Amino acid sequence: MADAKDDTKDPEQLTREEAAAELATLAEKLNAANLAYHGADAPEITDAEYDALKLRNLAIEAAFPDLKRDDSPSEQVGAAPAQGFAKVTHSQRMLSLGNAFSDEDVSEFDQRIRRYLGLDADAMLDFTAEPKIDGLSLSLRYENGTLVTAATRGDGQVGENVTANARTIDDIPETLSHAPEVLEVRGEVYMSHADFAALNARQESSGGKTFANPRNAAAGSLRQLDPTITASRPLRFFAYSWGTLSEPIGDTQLECLDKLGALGFSTNPLTRLCRSVAEMIAHYREIEQTRATLGYDIDGVVYKVNDLALQARLGFRSTTPRWAIAHKFPAEVGVTRLEAIEIQVGRTGALSPVARLTPVTVGGVVVSNATLHNADYIAGRDSTGKPIRDGRDLRVGDWVTVYRAGDVIPKVKDVDLSRRPDDAEPYVFPETCPICGSDVIREEGEAVAYCTGALICPAQQVEKLKHFVSRAAFDIDGLGAKQVENFYRFGWLRQPADIFTLRARDAAGEKLLLSAEDILETATEAEQTRLAEDLGLDAYDEGQALAALAARSQTPLAEQKGWGAKSAENLFTAIEARRTIPLNRLIFGLGIRHVGETSAALLARSYGTWAAFQGDMQAARDHDGPAWDTLNAIDGVGGVMAGALVDFFHEETTRAALDRLLAELVVEAVAPPETDGSPVAGKTVVFTGSLETMTRAEAKATAEARGAKVAGSVSAKTDIVVAGPGAGSKLAKAEALGLSVMSEEEWRAFLG
Ligand code: IVH
Repeated sequence: MADAKDDTKDPEQLTREEAAAELATLAEKLNAANLAYHGADAPEITDAEYDALKLRNLAIEAAFPDLKRDDSPSEQVGAAPAQGFAKVTHSQRMLSLGNAFSDEDVSEFDQRIRRYLGLDADAMLDFTAEPKIDGLSLSLRYENGTLVTAATRGDGQVGENVTANARTIDDIPETLSHAPEVLEVRGEVYMSHADFAALNARQESSGGKTFANPRNAAAGSLRQLDPTITASRPLRFFAYSWGTLSEPIGDTQLECLDKLGALGFSTNPLTRLCRSVAEMIAHYREIEQTRATLGYDIDGVVYKVNDLALQARLGFRSTTPRWAIAHKFPAEVGVTRLEAIEIQVGRTGALSPVARLTPVTVGGVVVSNATLHNADYIAGRDSTGKPIRDGRDLRVGDWVTVYRAGDVIPKVKDVDLSRRPDDAEPYVFPETCPICGSDVIREEGEAVAYCTGALICPAQQVEKLKHFVSRAAFDIDGLGAKQVENFYRFGWLRQPADIFTLRARDAAGEKLLLSAEDILETATEAEQTRLAEDLGLDAYDEGQALAALAARSQTPLAEQKGWGAKSAENLFTAIEARRTIPLNRLIFGLGIRHVGETSAALLARSYGTWAAFQGDMQAARDHDGPAWDTLNAIDGVGGVMAGALVDFFHEETTRAALDRLLAELVVEAVAPPETDGSPVAGKTVVFTGSLETMTRAEAKATAEARGAKVAGSVSAKTDIVVAGPGAGSKLAKAEALGLSVMSEEEWRAFLG
């Protein structure tokens, strides 16, 4: 289903659920590729494909930083620890940074922090600004002033022990005087431009491997099994942060950096204290100006809240601190030709135009596709009708400037009208779905056009199935996106329930769910070509395709090309294993609009069982009544999601498909939350009135981190009401219900 892939849709245009699903699929693909690469198997995808997946993953993570997975492939730079190095578990995780790409992003970062901390716009809030070094991070552990371990970041939790190599780096002191008993210093290992050039020259003359850039050279040099090789490579180190400390080394970021400097570490001389967003941006511009003359690679500026007490309050999202951000330098550009505009149809039916480009190198990466967002974007206006590119439209045959936004996802920046071919025609956005032919609708005020084919649109069906088997959903080993596409094309899968009947149909020698004639009839030309390829035909021929489809249906999977007795058995076993499924995975797997992984977990926790959940969704069908109210009272469920949920369960074809699916499954109720010592684990808490020592966001985040559920309204299910000054009806209701009511101070004491 090549045309149906959604994977060049602009990440910013993905819904949260689409983004989460795609991140899951990407994690799966990249992990499989890593395994194939590192294991005995030959790589299954080319390096370029691998890089493209990785970039896509980064782009989506940049657009939805909070959806970044704990097992994110982007955290696995260099994959799991390489063979040959001992592993080191970091006593404190090594984190990555969220990104800002514009001045507005920086200003939002500042505002976000102020909101979280409850600071006014004019309250003092100092930041440090320093270059973001393009190298690889290293954590150095000193005990009683002696370097004991040096570890790479690895996946953030577990890195490689490169102590012997780190000892060869001049900037890394072997011993420290007047250091705390335990001191973990973190920073970046890098190579200067001059040293990089000299190294490559030496390598070339000795017939050794040359490196693409200083970063790769630094990484390759540090991760040498023979430390004498590392010693011969001129590496440097800037300290910019720390991990475990037996005692504090300062109260602010700057004080700590000074302390690290005093202990003998190099800290970056371009580090400044900034008292406002304007000062941060001014310093960014200054660093950008000097970039070319620094003598080493940097790829942006990192801003950090200076006050460590505020950093502690702000804390972390899953893999990034709330108190720091990387302001990246703008992307490099390339000029190339727009060869074609293709439309991809996603799981929800959204049509995404994609530019097919003559391949061009942009910032060291070959770009051949770029997102075109939507019809307006192609026509040269934004969603409010304002001109973009001064109103210049894009046409097939045009010469365009492309860039990688945030160095990741390719976009079209501009078009050169002086080179437009005379016969170039304005692009006409399709009015029917290129996959299923259904009408395309575009709601008033919406940028995105949708295929109305829903369940009859093969593109949507396939994308829904892929989502269903994705990592955060049913996570069926051996049934990835590729197999789903394949099985769909062969007519073996249409709906999720079909996955669970596949084994029986395989054994019976009748896998087809519809006639081979119907398969061919409903396939687009592009689909027929893909099908011919998959069936091993030289070219598409109806008679041959019919015969081949029938033969595939009858022949057991174990005897088919690309499969064997073992892999077929493994697949069926994996499917069987997933007949028992946790409620949250089921809810997420259904692919309901606006219901991402986190929301699915929230719903599962709130309803506990499938019966309760489905019952309430159906009872709420009129968007009214107690079931509807209960749904809307869940903190984290907004009106849009509630509407999408209820409508999903109301739709007749969906209900039939659900009945079929549920007949195959055993749904596990949600286990009560872990109690690991937290007094509020599993308790439902409502905050009301004004809070004095923390903002709502902070109160909610802390409560949830300790295992509590935070609700927006008081009901008999509420366990604790934290009431501040000005609490009104919620407090009254809590008292009427005889619930436990605490002041903010009592709550803090209770949490411990
Ligand atoms: S602070 C908790 N400061 O960028 C925050 N990181 O994209 C820890 N990096 O993994 C990082 N220069 O390898 C920080 N001045 C700087 C940096 C820097 C480069 C790297 C670091 C980090 C990555 C995140």
